[in-house]
Amino acid sequence: MIRSVVRGYGAALPKRVVANRELEGIVETSDEWIVQRTGIRQRYIAGEGETTASLGEAAARAALDKAGLTPDDIDMILVATSTPDNTFPATAVNIQNRLGMTHGFAFDMQAVCSGFVYAMATADMYIRGGMARRVLVIGAETFSRILDWKDRTTCVLFGDGAGALILEAAQGEGTIADRGVLTSHLRSDGTHKEKLYVDGGPSTTGTVGHLRMEGREVFKHAVGMITDVIEAAFHATGTTADDLDWLVPHQANRRIIDGSAKKLGIPSEKVVVTVDLHGNTSAASIPLALSVALDDGRIKKGDLVMLEAMGGGFTWGAVLVRW
Ligand code: UT7
Repeated sequence: MIRSVVRGYGAALPKRVVANRELEGIVETSDEWIVQRTGIRQRYIAGEGETTASLGEAAARAALDKAGLTPDDIDMILVATSTPDNTFPATAVNIQNRLGMTHGFAFDMQAVCSGFVYAMATADMYIRGGMARRVLVIGAETFSRILDWKDRTTCVLFGDGAGALILEAAQGEGTIADRGVLTSHLRSDGTHKEKLYVDGGPSTTGTVGHLRMEGREVFKHAVGMITDVIEAAFHATGTTADDLDWLVPHQANRRIIDGSAKKLGIPSEKVVVTVDLHGNTSAASIPLALSVALDDGRIKKGDLVMLEAMGGGFTWGAVLVRW
């Protein structure tokens, strides 16, 4: 059977790093509160000229370089984002243009913080369905631009950045020893809309709006939803937590990450945590975390890696990949 195998990865961050202490001068908060409640120590904030598309392009170029490929070798670009450069055209088409690509096709995927997991599952379907051979899967965000910088309950949590993977069609045996995406499990439930949303949009207010979140309510649902989809992925592949080499979670809150890993019996040494470095970068958080753990040599070829995320909608999902 056809498998979608990871061929390259890349990441890009804005130039400006903002430590928790710097936020103490903007809202009534403290480094101590942010670290204790979230694990975040710093985040990157996009400056003039840095946008979701420019960060996504940089991450894509890094992934192409690592894979030894050029834009000519790619036939589909999928960008997970909730902070596009424009309402339309899609940021994916913008990035396609920036890469000098006039062949193939590109579109955006909007599942907020679960966007990268949704995009991986979707790219895998296009590859296995024979519609694409090589897909650039990008998670790119500039959440700093939709934050209410007067609201301390949200503005300290998020950051900007982008990460990319290249998935490539390869022949597999149909067993869990195959390299590539082994299974994907996606969920959504719109009854939770009011707990995490943006209070504007083209068709309602005609404005971009600001992020609004009832953090405690999101927190209450997170661990249960995350562990449910991970267990579904284990069940579908006949694997268990013991088989896993790495859990690479969406990076929203250290306490959610630790709580999920504990419930699943995954030791903390197998969990990749970068929320301290990047804050919550929504759809970019998983490819940014992957990039750190690949660069430092933790994730190796053949490792079994679980990706998971939960976010606005609510949306949530898990993807199991043999690296
Ligand atoms: O990626 C998408 C998914 N999003 C998430 O996963 C976010 C999920 N939620 C969370 O991570 C946590 O709920 C937060 C980090 C947002 C908040 O942590 P919490 O432990 O749930 O705190 P809380 O909302 O219950 O607030 C505790 C206290 C409140 O004061 P009172 O009412 O106890 O006096 C808040 O007003 O902390 C106060 N507070 C702050 N204090 C200092 C809220 N924000 C801040 C702040 N600095 N920035």
